[in-house]
Amino acid sequence: MRILLEKFTKKFGDLTVIDEMDLEVHDGELIALLGGSGCGKSTTLFAICGIHKVNGGRILFGDRDVTNITSQERNVGVVFQSFALYPHMTVEHNIGFPLKLRKETKTEIKRKVDEIAEMVHIEELLQRRPGELSGGQQQRVALARALIRRPDVLLLDEPLANLDATLRLEMRSEIRRIQQETGITAVLVTHDQVEAMSMCDRIAIMDAGKIIQIAEPKDMYENPVSSYVAGFLGSPPIAFLDGQIQDGKFFEPSTGTQLPISAAIASSHGGQNVRVGIRPEYFHPDGEVKIKGDVSFLESQGRETLYNVKLPNGSILRSIQGVHEPVTIGQSVEWGVDTAKMLVFDESGNCL
Ligand SMILES: Nc1ncnc2c1ncn2[C@@H]1O[C@H](COP(=O)(O)OP(=O)(O)O)[C@@H](O)[C@H]1O
Ligand SMILES: [Mg+2]
Repeated sequence: MRILLEKFTKKFGDLTVIDEMDLEVHDGELIALLGGSGCGKSTTLFAICGIHKVNGGRILFGDRDVTNITSQERNVGVVFQSFALYPHMTVEHNIGFPLKLRKETKTEIKRKVDEIAEMVHIEELLQRRPGELSGGQQQRVALARALIRRPDVLLLDEPLANLDATLRLEMRSEIRRIQQETGITAVLVTHDQVEAMSMCDRIAIMDAGKIIQIAEPKDMYENPVSSYVAGFLGSPPIAFLDGQIQDGKFFEPSTGTQLPISAAIASSHGGQNVRVGIRPEYFHPDGEVKIKGDVSFLESQGRETLYNVKLPNGSILRSIQGVHEPVTIGQSVEWGVDTAKMLVFDESGNCL
């Protein structure tokens, strides 16, 4: 079921949290609303859910205008960060509860609970109570309960935030599997870029109540519209260097290094101050254009090692490498940048 927001506006008193947002979630798509705390992700999700009334604009499911329809009538399934299971009920009764409210028969409820329990792999837990389950198992129960009514839309608000790292990894792929198996249209709210990148068809990145860019994860990573988006995606994050365009190249003043940039940018922005963005995978000992600095940090992450190289003006370049370089903190190095992969931003942060 397609979800369409048209000029969706939400205010709390005098505070406009979302101002005329347009968003289309395609049928069967999993889209992430990604952004920092307080940018309006949950507010948007709650409006799609029907918990919040909107102050302007329309919300459509398919061609049906649901703007003024209650949450119950929208047929949405919702999973929150706090799983919000009923502690005194068994897993079976927790999952079947939405159907009981609808007054379906016991045999019918049992059949559907068994079916959904099998899908989310919790068949053997049906007689337990939530207190007897791990966080990941509770999350599966919450998912099952959200899905049992066969909702048109699945809404997930930071569903993995309360899980430990291993479970989070497991549930990322499980939620994706279940979403793809059911073909349900889903919106995932998260502040975690790895979650958004790994689980979703597309990412809508938000800042201060606005969608800054919507794109497929890889496309957003490679072609961010701004330095804000570039900095949000990627771990370790992209590094930025400030300088000017001189003689058709980017000039880094503290080292005097000249880095080649595209002829188009060089001619349209000659003499201007710009910022370049260099991702850690594109700065390494074999890189083509060398730049001098001191190793200021290194950290082995097992398979890979992270390095920070500090330039004389304090700017940091980051590097991630599969082989351990024989360097120590404080050592001077001359590593290279793959300049073809460099991003160039104007003074307002727009990608050129
Ligand atoms: N019920 C509310 N009443 C007043 N302000 C709210 C309410 N809910 C959210 N806000 C404000 O709206 C903004 C966006 O909140 P929210 O959507 O929860 O952000 P996010 O989920 O991206 O962290 C914040 O400034 C928050 O304080
Ligand atoms: Mg939130």
